[in-house]
Amino acid sequence: MVHKDNSSPIPLVDLVQQSRQIKEDVLRRMADVIDSARYILGQEVREFEEQFAGYCGTDHCIGLGNGTDALHMALRALGIGEGDEVITAGNSFAATAFAIAYSGARPVLVDIDPADFNIDPDLIEHAITDRSRAIIPVHLYGQPAQMAAIREIADRHGLRIIEDAAQAHGAEIGGQRCGSFGDIGCFSFYPGKNLGAFGDGGAVVTNDPEVADKIRLLRNYGQKVKNRHDLLGYNCRLDTLQACVLLSKMQHIECWTEKRRQVAAWYREELADTQLLLPEERDGVRHVYHLYVVRHRRRDQVLASLAEQGIHCGIHYPHPLSLAAPMRDSATVPYGLPLCSEVANEILSLPMFPEMTRQQVATVANAVRAFAPEEVAFR
Ligand SMILES: Cc1ncc(COP(=O)(O)O)c(C=O)c1O
Repeated sequence: MVHKDNSSPIPLVDLVQQSRQIKEDVLRRMADVIDSARYILGQEVREFEEQFAGYCGTDHCIGLGNGTDALHMALRALGIGEGDEVITAGNSFAATAFAIAYSGARPVLVDIDPADFNIDPDLIEHAITDRSRAIIPVHLYGQPAQMAAIREIADRHGLRIIEDAAQAHGAEIGGQRCGSFGDIGCFSFYPGKNLGAFGDGGAVVTNDPEVADKIRLLRNYGQKVKNRHDLLGYNCRLDTLQACVLLSKMQHIECWTEKRRQVAAWYREELADTQLLLPEERDGVRHVYHLYVVRHRRRDQVLASLAEQGIHCGIHYPHPLSLAAPMRDSATVPYGLPLCSEVANEILSLPMFPEMTRQQVATVANAVRAFAPEEVAFR
């Protein structure tokens, strides 16, 4: 790799710095689990569930194996399956549509509003049929979807709402946390997420006690009592050792989220005079910047130029969901995904993690400026 200045490479995400901050606390918690041998559904899982429900402003949280399980169990708990349709955004991570397919329902993929990269509520309305049962808005990159408009449409058509908040821990609209707007909120604790375990983890949150009870059964082979299987459940429990990591990180999540927002503010300043189209933050929302996603018409060249200068970026995601091989037969795309396709060719995710310094942000901005400085602005 060629570096055009003397600074060290900047990773897309740096998990090592964060892990170092909590290592001692995590090890102490893990030692208790090891000594007690309560490896499955130990008290740390319950403790974390209580804390995370409180954090989201919901009555219940159920810890699960990962975020994909959270979406799948949410659909199962609402009785959605064969013959049903579930509407979601065409630009999400594959797991959102895959979970719908696991349930037996058909994913219906809808285009986005490029202003916030989230599902366009006006287009949801057009995609509703007599088989529609639910909407899964995705709070992509950490910016809340337009929940008031989505709630209004869902109520008018008798649809359930499952929020995919895998990238939106602590995101808010008018002070209310994402995950608490719909019938069920789904979270991932994949290591790189804003709240990430040291492996896989996930959870659902809800205010509905029946849904909560059902998901508690579903995650543990349908057992409330050992060896009594009330329904065809799964094995998708949050691991107790991962709950130790999450409990430890809960003490820092607000501070880390504010640091992400600070990094985004620095980017806004430093990149203002570049050719990149910067992400907009909707009024009244708290964007938690899981990813800092910008656009450029010559994205691949920008990406290559940044990589050459030691700036590691990502693409989230390079293709609309409709192009994923398993979706070609199983998903419906009623009105095409022209904006998802356009955006997929132009987006890149710049380095973003709470420990990023202003100097690193300036280095990224200088690297961006070093690319084709004679070019005109994006729009
Ligand atoms: C938007 C979205 N939905 C769902 C998932 C699935 O979560 P997991 O990887 O924990 O299964 C992820 C993350 O990977 C995601 O980013």
